[in-house]
Parts: sequence; C-alpha cells; structure tokens
Amino acid sequence: TSPASAAAATDNGKVQRLTVFGAGLMGAGIAQIGAQNGLKVILSDVTDKALENGLNIITKSLSRVAKKQSPDDVEGFTSQILKNIETTTDAGKAVQDADLVVEAIIESLKVKRDLFGFLDTKAKESCIFATNTSSLSVKEIAEACGQERQDKFAGLHFFNPVPAMKLVEIIRTPQTSTETYEALREVTLRMGKAPVTCNDTPGFIVNRLLVPYLLEAIRMVERGDATPEDIDTAMELGAGYPMGPFKLLDFVGLDTTSYISQGWRDKAAEGAISEHLVQPISLLDKLVKEGKLGRKSGQGFYEVS
Ligand code: CAA
Ligand code: NAD
Repeated sequence: TSPASAAAATDNGKVQRLTVFGAGLMGAGIAQIGAQNGLKVILSDVTDKALENGLNIITKSLSRVAKKQSPDDVEGFTSQILKNIETTTDAGKAVQDADLVVEAIIESLKVKRDLFGFLDTKAKESCIFATNTSSLSVKEIAEACGQERQDKFAGLHFFNPVPAMKLVEIIRTPQTSTETYEALREVTLRMGKAPVTCNDTPGFIVNRLLVPYLLEAIRMVERGDATPEDIDTAMELGAGYPMGPFKLLDFVGLDTTSYISQGWRDKAAEGAISEHLVQPISLLDKLVKEGKLGRKSGQGFYEVS
C-alpha cells in the first residue's frame, strides 16, 4: 500500500493527522514512522534551521529503510514518504486539525507546560495530547491544559533511534481515559511498534533502570576506575549490550541525560526516587557546559567522525 492510500484507508475515527513538536532526534523519528505508516504528519519546531535538521535526519534514515525495502527506487520511496510530512514554525496552525499531538521538545517541565498550555487553546476538543518525555511527570505536564483535556492526555515514550527501536511505553495519568489509551495503543501498533503500559513514575520502565546505569558508568570514569572505551567493550562483550554506556550516552545526548538527572533530583526531594541515584556528576556537567552533547554536536565522550 502506498502511504497516501494507507491514510485514506484509516478514515474510521482513528488517528490520521499527527502533529509532532520538536524536530530533533526523537521528533524527526516519530514524524518519519508516522509518515511511513500512512499518517498525515506535521512537524513543528521553533526555527527553520531546526526543521531543516529534522528533515535531514528523516531523509538519511529513510534512505536506509529504502535500501532494504525498495532497493531499485531509493529516491522514489523516500520522496513518496516525505510527501506525508509538512513542516511549520507556526505552532497554532500546526495543531489546528490534528487528531494526535506528540511533543518531543527539550526535556524541561516549564517549556513543555508552556507549549501544551498554548496548544490546548488551539487544538480540536477531541485531539489527544501525548508527551515523549523521558523522565518528567506526565500529570504535571498535563496540568498545563484545561480540565477538558485531562482525559485525552498521556505519555507516549518512543526510543532512540525511533525507526529501529520497537518499544513504546504508554503512560496513563489517573485521568487518562480508556478511550484515549486504546486510541494510543491502536496508533502505536499501526506504526509498527510494540506498546507496554506503565504508571506515571520517574523514568517509567526503561529509563528508571537504564539512566542510573548510565550515570554510574560516568561516575566510574570520574573515579578513574576504567576508561570509557574499556567500559563500553566490557558491557558489549560481557553483558551483550548492543552499545556500551558511553556510546549510548553520546547517542541519547548528554544534555538530555543531564536534564533527566536534574529533573529527578527534584523528585528525590519528594521521595519519588532515591537521592543517591541522581547525585550531580561534575564530568557530565563539564561536557554539557563545553557544548559536547554527543553525536548531535559532533563530540561527547567520543569524537564523531
Ligand atoms: N533509521 C532507520 N533504520 C535504522 C536506523 C535509523 N536511524 N538505525 C538503525 N536502523 C536499522 C538498521 O537499518 C537495521 O535494520 P535491519 O535489521 O532491518 O537490517 C537495524 O536497525 C540494526 O542496525 P545496524 O545493523 O545498522 O546496526 P546495529 O545492529 O549496530 O544496531 C542500533 C544499531 C539499533 C542503534 C543498536 O546499536 C542498538 O540497539 N543500540 C542501543 C539503542 C538503545 O538502547 N536505545 C535506547 C536509548 S534510551 C531512550 O531512547 C530513552 C530515553 O528516553 C533517553
Ligand atoms: P533534541 O535536542 O534532539 O531536539 C529537541 C528539539 O526541540 C530541538 O529541535 C528544539 O529546537 C526543539 N524545541 C525546543 N523548544 C521547542 C518548542 N517550544 N516548540 C517546538 N520545538 C521546540 O532532543 P531529543 O533527543 O529529540 O529529545 C526530545 C524529547 O524526547 C525530550 O523530552 C527527551 O527527554 C525525549 N527523549 C529523548 C530520547 C533520546 O534518546 N534522545 C529518547 C526518548 C525520549
């Protein structure tokens, strides 16, 4: 089925129009898999440069997919899918016809709340709002919207790289309706993903286990116990991980990891997560301050060639 005819075939009250906020690593991937699976997608960010960056990420990834799925017509495959994606810096216009919004902007409670508070005044009453937050409370983000939106708000947490990672965590707040949850499950499955469900707790399932491990790896280097290279080799060959923790930290983004850890420090004060897991790490802070954010900036723990 071509992307356009797949979109027409879903005209039965299900999500068809997806708007994604944030054209970075995650937003680009989410927009791409939406478009690949027949949704009409609008990708929105604050600058044209950020949108261009997002389209570059999508084009590169689509050409990888095309080489496998349509090796004889890589360009045709890619441009057919790209037809399902529009871009805009106008957040109000981006959301006016959306059935589903997925927010994948910077990991800041304030910035996410400001965006959702605005979108709530512009979107259709029936539009479902979802956040791709890694670590923040979905309920606290949802509270930026009016009471009418609370049953249509949930967490929809994708994994990086989105086109390759099968998992999506669906996070319900106490107010998320069963109808919203089922609509999210259905569209997630349509995007070719495997959904799991989790309560609205710091880090949900994967990050609650993964992020303390990543932070502990940085502490190990800071203590001088082993090098990043040896720790990566050890976890790849000794624990069977596809990437060691430092390759993964560079892949996720050191800024994003730092935001997660900072956000959890506030939660530790409330007793929601153990304080010792999120002690500040000066090596992480130093790299972020120097703009060494990982692959997206060309350097993190490793230099990207
Ligand atoms: N776009 C499209 N397809 C991609 C892709 C991309 N950007 N990256 C990888 N793929 C596909 C490849 O084409 C390949 O597909 P086939 O199996 O159909 O051939 C498959 O994924 C595997 O890729 P490769 O063979 O190139 O490379 P690999 O085997 O080394 O896998 C990887 C690459 C999937 C990234 C793997 O290294 C991996 O799983 N790394 C760990 C990633 C991870 O842990 N992500 C979670 C991060 S935490 C997070 O996301 C949550 C958070 O909130 C911070
Ligand atoms: P990123 O830094 O690659 O991209 C963020 C994008 O958001 C940038 O393009 C930025 O311009 C844009 N942005 C900032 N404020 C905005 C606003 N008000 N409106 C629209 N766009 C805005 O970040 P990322 O890695 O894609 O992470 C995005 C979200 O996804 C975060 O909440 C992060 O915690 C979460 N997440 C990240 C990963 C990961 O591995 N990087 C995995 C899962 C979830």
